[in-house]
Amino acid sequence: MKLYSSLTKKYIMSLAGLFLLTFLLVHLTINLLILVDDGRSLFNTVAHFMGTNVFIQTFQWVLFGGFAIHILFGFILQIANWMARPKRYDKKAISETSFFSKFMIHTGIIILVFLGIHLADFFVKKIGGTVPEIHSGDLAGIEDMGILVLEKFKMGGYVLFYVLSLLFLGFHLDHAFQSSFQSLGLNHDKYTPFIKSLSRILAIVITLGYITIPVCIYFFK
Ligand code: HEM
Repeated sequence: MKLYSSLTKKYIMSLAGLFLLTFLLVHLTINLLILVDDGRSLFNTVAHFMGTNVFIQTFQWVLFGGFAIHILFGFILQIANWMARPKRYDKKAISETSFFSKFMIHTGIIILVFLGIHLADFFVKKIGGTVPEIHSGDLAGIEDMGILVLEKFKMGGYVLFYVLSLLFLGFHLDHAFQSSFQSLGLNHDKYTPFIKSLSRILAIVITLGYITIPVCIYFFK
């Protein structure tokens, strides 16, 4: 017996996806702070607050749950889709879908690999207590997340890996937002073109916003 219908799965996946989009916007805003002051104190202060506030710490596990649900249901739906359509090169189906929509599972897997490496480099180091501490000034004693980010983005190969991964994130997002609205049944002749344009603008802003960080650090910091 099926636990959820595929429509319910799409619904849950869309809600989880929209929730992750909110995270991406907050995460981007905080990360951009590393570019605005040379001493990294603003970024470190906010990172420390996010890392110690009980509400945000609890929310973090909700966030990981959101990622897990989105990924799990994404795989289940994709496999069900492949099994239901053995003739994958159906011309009509292909012509009716947008370019990026055909590669959601592929771009999704690339983002998953990126996320694994990203978490190992920053998040795991932080919870493992291996981030260097600040020794002087008002912030003495707290972890220097800023120096960790700056050191990583001084490596050309690492910057290239981020830029490429973030471009794939952009392709994923370009289809994601409009598709979430469709899955939630919010489809309307009048509003759908607006939602599609908004989705593209959001994808471009988020992608360029994130790409700015490694590129600016590499060339200007
Ligand atoms: C240039 C881009 C990015 C930078 C500089 C950056 C930086 C960081 C840092 C420093 C942390 C550790 C935060 C802490 O615990 O204090 C972190 C955590 C995290 N990052 Fe990123 N990040 C970037 C892009 C992304 C992207 C594109 C995603 C998602 C696809 C992402 C997802 C996460 C998640 C899920 C965590 C763990 C939760 C958290 O600590 O907030 N990051 N990132």
